[in-house]
Amino acid sequence: MKRIFVTWPLPEPTQARLASACELVMNVEEELLTRAELLRGAAGAFGLLTTLRDRVDAAVLDATGVRVVANWAVGYDNIDIAAARARKVWVTNTPGVLTETTADLAFGLIFAVARRIAEGDRLVRRAEFRGWHPGLLLGREVHGRTLGIVGLGRIGRAVARRAAGFGMRVIYHGGRPDDVHCQPRSLQDLLAESDFVSLHVPLTTETRNLIGPAEINAMKRGAFLINTARGDVVDQEALVEALERGHLGGAGLDVFPGTPERPDPRLFTLENVVLTPHVGSATRETRLLMAERAADNLIAALSGKAPPDLVWR
Ligand code: GLV
Repeated sequence: MKRIFVTWPLPEPTQARLASACELVMNVEEELLTRAELLRGAAGAFGLLTTLRDRVDAAVLDATGVRVVANWAVGYDNIDIAAARARKVWVTNTPGVLTETTADLAFGLIFAVARRIAEGDRLVRRAEFRGWHPGLLLGREVHGRTLGIVGLGRIGRAVARRAAGFGMRVIYHGGRPDDVHCQPRSLQDLLAESDFVSLHVPLTTETRNLIGPAEINAMKRGAFLINTARGDVVDQEALVEALERGHLGGAGLDVFPGTPERPDPRLFTLENVVLTPHVGSATRETRLLMAERAADNLIAALSGKAPPDLVWR
């Protein structure tokens, strides 16, 4: 039987299904593997099931000889796709199943920043709520405002559908619209017109630091930036600086650049910033669907068929 090495504990049903199709070897600890552990575990395996924190580069492919890498995520910037392609190693992701869930979180962040939900929660917990008054924690409207979506792919379109329900005007840069009325804009025009800018692009060499100092300065004064894509799409230094000088109204950030578990600590002191720990797709239902999708891809590859979610062909 071919061996599959899994870098993070899978949900039980997925484990059982995979185990009936291959020799399953799984890291059972909820701990990121070191590179040495990854190399040791994957050596000689047919396939690898990775999370987005496992770095799979040419050296890992060469040292292990794996033929397929199934990422338990829709993004695959942790995998060197050119190296995989050159070695004819299949790489798969989990598109579709996390679209609506991630769009829900993006919208949650829009409301959290505009209506100061986290700030209000902190105030109540500090026992500083002294009763309703007309000027308490005034936020900004969401309905009727302009939402600029950078990257109108699956998730961007799901955000656009939600925005239509809230009576927002939706403009976009990159990608393509479907049934929801959205107008295309250059990036510069989108930034200048939007009250909320929500990022939905994958991390690639083209999108790294796509939102840098010039782009942040091009945003409307008081606008909000929402990032549920990848931290490295935004120049964090420029963002913090714009928040500190009051150019932006706030930010909702689910992802952070560099070492994502250590965001710039200056963000912690800004009341108008809502920070979540990369939980865009984090519901029980969706995480199981994602695991099942990764397993579907591996099961296809194990039987010699092209997996349904190949990221290169
Ligand atoms: C999450 O960020 C994913 O890419 O699935």
